[in-house]
Amino acid sequence: MQTIMVVDDEKVIRDGCNRVLSAENFQVLTAANGQEALELLDCNTVDLVICDLLMPIMGAFEVLDSLRSSHPCLPLIVLTGHGTVTNAVECMKMGAYDFVTKPFIMDHLLLIVRRALEKNELEHRARQLQEERERHLYDLATEQSRTRTIINCMAEGVLVTNRNLDVVLHNPALMRLLDMEATPAPPISLSDYISDPALVEVIGSIVSMDSGEHELISRELSRGKVHLRAVSAPVYGHPDQVIGSVTVFHEITKFKELDELKSHFIRMVSHELRSPLSTIKQQIGVLLEGLAGELGEKQKNVLDRADERIGNLLELVNDLLDVAKIESGQCVLEQVPMRIDNLLLDMAVFMKARAESHGIELCLDIAPDLPQVLADFRSMEEVFGNLISNAVNYSPDGGRITISASPLEVFIEVRVSDTGIGIAAEELPKIFDKFYRARNPRTRNVVGTGLGLVIVKGIIESHRGSIQVDSEPGIGTTFRILLPKA
Ligand SMILES: Nc1ncnc2c1ncn2[C@@H]1O[C@H](COP(=O)(O)OP(=O)(O)O)[C@@H](O)[C@H]1O
Ligand SMILES: [Mg+2]
Repeated sequence: MQTIMVVDDEKVIRDGCNRVLSAENFQVLTAANGQEALELLDCNTVDLVICDLLMPIMGAFEVLDSLRSSHPCLPLIVLTGHGTVTNAVECMKMGAYDFVTKPFIMDHLLLIVRRALEKNELEHRARQLQEERERHLYDLATEQSRTRTIINCMAEGVLVTNRNLDVVLHNPALMRLLDMEATPAPPISLSDYISDPALVEVIGSIVSMDSGEHELISRELSRGKVHLRAVSAPVYGHPDQVIGSVTVFHEITKFKELDELKSHFIRMVSHELRSPLSTIKQQIGVLLEGLAGELGEKQKNVLDRADERIGNLLELVNDLLDVAKIESGQCVLEQVPMRIDNLLLDMAVFMKARAESHGIELCLDIAPDLPQVLADFRSMEEVFGNLISNAVNYSPDGGRITISASPLEVFIEVRVSDTGIGIAAEELPKIFDKFYRARNPRTRNVVGTGLGLVIVKGIIESHRGSIQVDSEPGIGTTFRILLPKA
């Protein structure tokens, strides 16, 4: 409820106003003179004052004068006689909202009261908005200064562009990473800043991206001995439109060196292990064949187990060497036109006995007159050997393995499908990672290295082909390989 104070030395007026304003749902305070009014104002919240111009103790002038400092926003309406209208106008110059000449019609006074209250309310809201705006601007400035400090202190390089590919922000770390001396004053064109044309193209593709394709693009680049990883992302404006890009540069030289060291170490150790292991395996073979004398049942069992273990170890060493070769880009491939259908046929014959010993039916479904592919024969044996033995290994309840091949436009598609245990959706993206093996109690006894699919993928990709997997737990798995036609 709003409160109105009526100040007049005439009791009739005070009472009249009180009655009418109360009926209009206002709370009313009354005072017989200016001094009383000011005292009441000290301990009450008042929304509007109606004040007589001339009173024996302190009139409207003095009240206005005092309100100017204590209640600068409180609206005041002056009541005045006909003879003193010029004085009332003076009051308005001092800040009164309006004046009403006595004798007045109550409705007229009410109208002015309402308008004054409304104006006051609007002014109040405008002040609030203004304060809010100032607060926001202050917060924004603080936030900006904080972000600036964070970016300047970061060890990673940061590069921000607008939609026209001008660099609008960069940090000292980036200048250090890119070996720049003088600070170029933004905006400068991105291609003047970054000498790697592929990265410029990546950032270009990001800013011209349609909204909705929320994408992070990661690229490695080298400057002499320094290796950097650049991760670029779009910046969205309103509404959802790409207005620029942010690229963060991490220095990965040390990781690269360590990785190279590790690969070198694995290559060396595997190499050193391979020949003695092969020799041991051969010699166990000699013993098992009885070439060094007749063996008893017990001795044969012990040697069989040793042979199997050495076999697994050799497989691991060979896989490690293959992976190291693929990773260092040294897997020299002799890609020649070859008939993949013949190879699949041979593999099927070769694997049939093993599949059948697990109660698995092995079927071939190869399109007639299949065109040749461009591939390395040994590598293809390795690829399909791995995929078919996986299909056998991960089908503990028997079932069926189907190997099919058919021509597409530029590729030949080969599928290896099984009706085995399948792979859970959350594990699917990881099965091509080094050493990753999905855990399943039903295939706990399957020996493996978790490197087979890494090698398969490496080989397929170095043939400019691709591999995809579809799988449903309990139903089966299909690997789909595309190899370029010869
Ligand atoms: N045909 C398949 N059916 C079910 N799971 C599979 C199949 N092929 C591969 N996997 C899963 O992918 C993992 C990685 O396969 P791979 O790289 O060949 O390693 P390994 O066979 O030595 O474990 C396997 O451990 C298995 O969990
Ligand atoms: Mg395997």
